[in-house]
Amino acid sequence: MSERSQWGTRAGFIMAAVGSAVGLGNIWRFPYVAYENGGGAFFIPYLFALLTAGIPILIMEFTIGHKYRGSAPLSFFRMAGKKAEWLGWWGVFVSFVISTYYSVIIAWAIKYTFYSFKLSWGDDPGGFLFGDVLQLADTPGEFGGYVPGVLIPLLVVWLIAFIILFSGVKRGIELANRIFIPTLIVVFVLVVIRALTLDGAALGLEALFKPDLSKLANPTVWVAAYGHIFFSLSIAFAIMITYSSYLPKKSDITNNAFITGFANSGFELLAGFGVFAALGFMATQANVPVDEVADAGVGLAFVVFPEIVSQMPGMNGLFGALFFLSLVLAGITSLVSICETYIAGISDKFNISRNKSVVIGVGTATLVATIFATRGGLYFLDAADYFINQFGVAAIGLIEVILIAWFFRKLDVFQNHANAISDIRAGLWWKICLTFVTPLVLGYMMFGLLRTNLLRLHETDSGNYEGYSNTFILYGGWGVAIAALVLAIIFTSTKWKRNTTNYEE
Ligand code: ALA
Repeated sequence: MSERSQWGTRAGFIMAAVGSAVGLGNIWRFPYVAYENGGGAFFIPYLFALLTAGIPILIMEFTIGHKYRGSAPLSFFRMAGKKAEWLGWWGVFVSFVISTYYSVIIAWAIKYTFYSFKLSWGDDPGGFLFGDVLQLADTPGEFGGYVPGVLIPLLVVWLIAFIILFSGVKRGIELANRIFIPTLIVVFVLVVIRALTLDGAALGLEALFKPDLSKLANPTVWVAAYGHIFFSLSIAFAIMITYSSYLPKKSDITNNAFITGFANSGFELLAGFGVFAALGFMATQANVPVDEVADAGVGLAFVVFPEIVSQMPGMNGLFGALFFLSLVLAGITSLVSICETYIAGISDKFNISRNKSVVIGVGTATLVATIFATRGGLYFLDAADYFINQFGVAAIGLIEVILIAWFFRKLDVFQNHANAISDIRAGLWWKICLTFVTPLVLGYMMFGLLRTNLLRLHETDSGNYEGYSNTFILYGGWGVAIAALVLAIIFTSTKWKRNTTNYEE
């Protein structure tokens, strides 16, 4: 096997880590999650989750990758054998699922970048999205054939990801991030400035930041904060372990984690400003309160935003195009990081070259992703996203900290490893967060969440997430989340085809 790949420079690594973290989560997900969960009050659980779980886990994952120099399964195997390897594969398969639907949202964003110039959605952006663009099926769970208008841009997204990944860690991923991230920052800052100068912008910001403190008592708000932090920071699904395994031996860990964490949250905040300023503008035009124009999820970016673009004075097509281009740029740099988890995992386990692994990994993911380019795709996407985030990402985050802190008892070793090479020390606070705070808070939340979702299955269909039928929830939601875990166990049970012991810590 050839030498393990490495990042070219420290800045290259930071750029790649930030590129992974800043993604659809920041622009498309954060504003509505924050808004739905109490607006200004959401910042309390958000900051709590960031400081007590997000950054401490990021430091831990950077340390694991740097110390054990392998993909997530290999790193965990080196840490504690097969008893830990499965956790790495679980993250890898969760990433696999995420990459398949994540790519479809990027594909929509590519289409909307072009639609913006002509305001193709006309007076009915909702009807346009669900009817013309997605040709949405009537019943969740029904495939209803491919939608060529989605399938083609989807293949383009995968072709771009393939080219970047096939070109290698330094000449592919690092180079792409060095180009995409600065471009993204310039484009997005322009979008935000324009949004902030619109009529009514202050009204939108007020809606985002006015705290609804009553929401703080609600556990789902806290789960939402943890879930969002994990997704947004790209932690607990194998990504950051894989990326940090390409660090040179002499590199900082703790400071890099702080830089990545704060850059990500800074960008997120910027997105919140931009999106809500625009919503404030729209509410002012329609003379209604902001909560009447704010919408959740897909709707916010692909229905409400086009509407705003249509109403804007001057150069509105360009504004729309730049907004959707930001989604594309942020999305692609995250997508490649998500794919890198399984590319590295397969290559390590089966001792095949990186390029072969890229072909296998990207090829399989492309095929699976086409499910989301069918007429029923949006329902599959919605169910998979909800279940894989709660019972994939958040569950892995919880189990990872419990296993490492309590069963394998590795925190002291990791602390010494990180502190020996870092500018900032991971002190007692770091261990307290990972040993007590995160397991307790997240464990409590997860228990409640599991209970709610399981109880729902006994009730009528309408009690389910989004009112989906029990059957659809079972295979489109639970089925997907459980499949990731089952595949992880199967992969763990196979033999390593390479020597797993020859590495320098
Ligand atoms: N961290 C990536 C995002 O926020 C996955 O979209």
